[in-house]
Amino acid sequence: MGAPTKLARPLQCVRSADLPWEVLGTHGLKRRLLGHDPESGHVTNIVFIPEGWHGGGVAHFHDAFEEVYMLDGAVTLDGDHYFRKGVYFYRPAQVVHGHDERSETGALALVRSDGALVLNLVHQPEQPVEYPRPGHGDPRGHVFETRVASVAAEADAALHADWKAKPLSADPVTGARTFEAIVPAGWQGIAPALGQPWEAYVLEGDLSGARESWQAGDYTVGDADTPLLGTVSSTAGARILVMTFGERA
Ligand SMILES: [Fe+2]
Repeated sequence: MGAPTKLARPLQCVRSADLPWEVLGTHGLKRRLLGHDPESGHVTNIVFIPEGWHGGGVAHFHDAFEEVYMLDGAVTLDGDHYFRKGVYFYRPAQVVHGHDERSETGALALVRSDGALVLNLVHQPEQPVEYPRPGHGDPRGHVFETRVASVAAEADAALHADWKAKPLSADPVTGARTFEAIVPAGWQGIAPALGQPWEAYVLEGDLSGARESWQAGDYTVGDADTPLLGTVSSTAGARILVMTFGERA
């Protein structure tokens, strides 16, 4: 078990493929720790679910939100509905889920939360599928599932005029948001600062900056005034998963 990766500086390149796998629990899950902020508790992982996986089989909820982008494979949490490659979901704290967790094919997912995902077990769930407990009140709401390919790409005032964004979730109180940024092939320019701290994971393509170059699987963070990935050009174009931190209410 390595120490948590606390990134020393914005734009430090974390190549996820080079990170060690850490075993999670006793059911075969593994993770690569991309980023961890001890102050806020935020943690961002790549989670590997093995073929033929069976979870603990007990419904539960967490005291932290859980935000997931499915990178590969498929997994069910209730024994019926499958989350498949290319879907995004945002599950607020206090939402009961995990009634029957399985994956026949295995899966790979980017998982982000604002604290440790401790299991609070619910032995007699009120409903057979995912549902909120009383008192759940995340202004971002519960995004059960969004197929990212079907989200319309639109102009975004925070991004370069040539880029587009697919909005995935947003907190109207703090301004925190998650979106996919799309950079066209052959682009040259100056990437925007977002006015909020951010973390980003390159889903596809290539990007070049003054000192860095990025490819699929790379992760980094930035401050409010750090240009997104410090990028100035892209040969093949790119899709970037961007997650910003809003202002504390
Ligand atoms: Fe869970």
